[in-house]
Amino acid sequence: MTRIAIVTGSTRDGRKNRQVAEWVLAKAQERDDAEFDLVDIADYHLPLLGEPAREQGVASVKEFSARMDEFDGFIFVTPEYNHSVSPALANALSYLKPELANKAAGIVSYGSAFGARAVEHLRGILSELQVAHVQKTGLFSLFVDFKDGAFAPSELQAASVLPVFDQVVLWAKALETVRAEAAVA
Ligand SMILES: Cc1cc2nc3c(=O)[nH]c(=O)nc-3n(C[C@H](O)[C@H](O)[C@H](O)COP(=O)(O)O)c2cc1C
Repeated sequence: MTRIAIVTGSTRDGRKNRQVAEWVLAKAQERDDAEFDLVDIADYHLPLLGEPAREQGVASVKEFSARMDEFDGFIFVTPEYNHSVSPALANALSYLKPELANKAAGIVSYGSAFGARAVEHLRGILSELQVAHVQKTGLFSLFVDFKDGAFAPSELQAASVLPVFDQVVLWAKALETVRAEAAVA
């Protein structure tokens, strides 16, 4: 069965991210054409790339990369920080390359302008990591889709994630063939 990870994009204390990621996961799990699971980058306490390696940091990087390697595709749930992704997500992605290459990804974002600028930066990073990022994007507004800090998506924006699932599942399945070819090349 094709496996897709919903990946969090913030580790901030009091972050909104986890509830959005959990909502995306629940919505994805209404489908039966792939298996969906959550990968929370906060669980790994990843050191900043290039910091002197401490034993625990090395272990957490290995666990994170092994976990990401398990999946055929990804849906990154990103906030917008300074018109880009969070430092935590950029750092986490810096540890990965073969774990993501020739796999599919979709993006769900939120921000004052739906996180649209973070999406474009994330697309650049994913291109460099040889990830096939799909065209559709799930978009949520900090002003409309959260009520008193809780994620409460409007019907219109909630529907924006559905084509992301469609495209990621389709490309994740197709790219299994590409990865098999790459493995024997
Ligand atoms: C340093 C910093 C920079 C931010 N820059 C932006 C920004 O450029 N655009 C935006 O829409 N929101 C911006 N925000 C607001 C965040 O998107 C908002 O706090 C959001 O809840 C962050 O996601 P999180 O709670 O999951 O960490 C910024 C917040 C911080 C702390």
